[in-house]
Amino acid sequence: MSAMEHVAAPDPSQVEAFALEAERRVVAAADLESLESVAAELSGKRSPFVAWKRSLATVDHEGRRALGQVLNGALARVSAAVESRRAILERAARDELVAADRLDLTEVVPAPGAGHLHLVTQVSEELEDVFVGMGYEIADGPEAETEWYNFTALNVPRDHPARSMQDSFYLAAGDRESYLLRTQTSPVQVRLLERGVLPLYAVAPGRVYRRDTADARHLPVFHQIEGIVVDRNVTFGDLAGTIDTFVTAIFGTGIESRLRPAYFPFTEPSAEFEVTCTICRGAGCRTCSQTGWIELGGCGLVHPAVLEASGVDPEQWSGFAFGFGIDRLAIMRHEIEDIRSFVENDVRFLAQF
Ligand code: DAH
Repeated sequence: MSAMEHVAAPDPSQVEAFALEAERRVVAAADLESLESVAAELSGKRSPFVAWKRSLATVDHEGRRALGQVLNGALARVSAAVESRRAILERAARDELVAADRLDLTEVVPAPGAGHLHLVTQVSEELEDVFVGMGYEIADGPEAETEWYNFTALNVPRDHPARSMQDSFYLAAGDRESYLLRTQTSPVQVRLLERGVLPLYAVAPGRVYRRDTADARHLPVFHQIEGIVVDRNVTFGDLAGTIDTFVTAIFGTGIESRLRPAYFPFTEPSAEFEVTCTICRGAGCRTCSQTGWIELGGCGLVHPAVLEASGVDPEQWSGFAFGFGIDRLAIMRHEIEDIRSFVENDVRFLAQF
């Protein structure tokens, strides 16, 4: 038998006073750790309640019942105080954890060494912004196209060399219509016109594919942006003004644009548009073959055959279209020597922009 410590039976007021003080200390516990140590001291095995209950044996029957009730009541109040304080502190601890763990997904924190958008994507988005500012919508179309959209509806003759297997990537998909990877963004013109919602002001940036061998100025996969406007009484002057506006927006002042006669099956008349050579600023250099100008893209008034193929009445509506390479524009603006740098994934190159 272990030695029993004999404690005299307490006075009820002593118990009540202890319980009151115990509740006060429990409520004052600032964190879970101090709460548990206070709880062990005031209501656990080492608390006076244990000795006090033992002392009941020394009290007569009547007194034992009364004191027992006082002890039980007091212990229950202290225990309840511990419970409720524990719940409060646990919730606070959990809230703190959650707050520390919180990720604000709307926040962009530029961490050192973090990546950024590829230059071609940046230029593409800049172009979108310029045209949205002029009231254009942004459109897109599939990269796997049918011959109809990529060539036929665009008035490209059946025997045109661009249609040949040497120039286009044809896909072995279905036999009724031939599918190919679009060689230009111009098929989006037809898809937009087919919607039958006029007037139409839209640009469509996107990836295009040609069976070209990569060299300093060509990639077999590159990006173009197509523009199309169809409205009443659209003139060549509207086209020239539009090209001038976006060339200034993208290159800044000092770089001008000019149009030179050209041929495209889907426009009539057609033109190439050139911009001031960004290397020599027009003075003449090797890059621009001493002309002071560099070709950027093609444009013209939409051919009536294209409008007709898309279900638009050429007697009622007229329009202009243009298209050019986004990668080409980027190498011109940033004086990049070799367009292949865009796909070599050398971060020392990419990080410059
Ligand atoms: N699709 C032509 C190309 O890839 C560029 C082009 C020329 C687009 C004239 C046009 C246009 O919309 O009117 O070379």
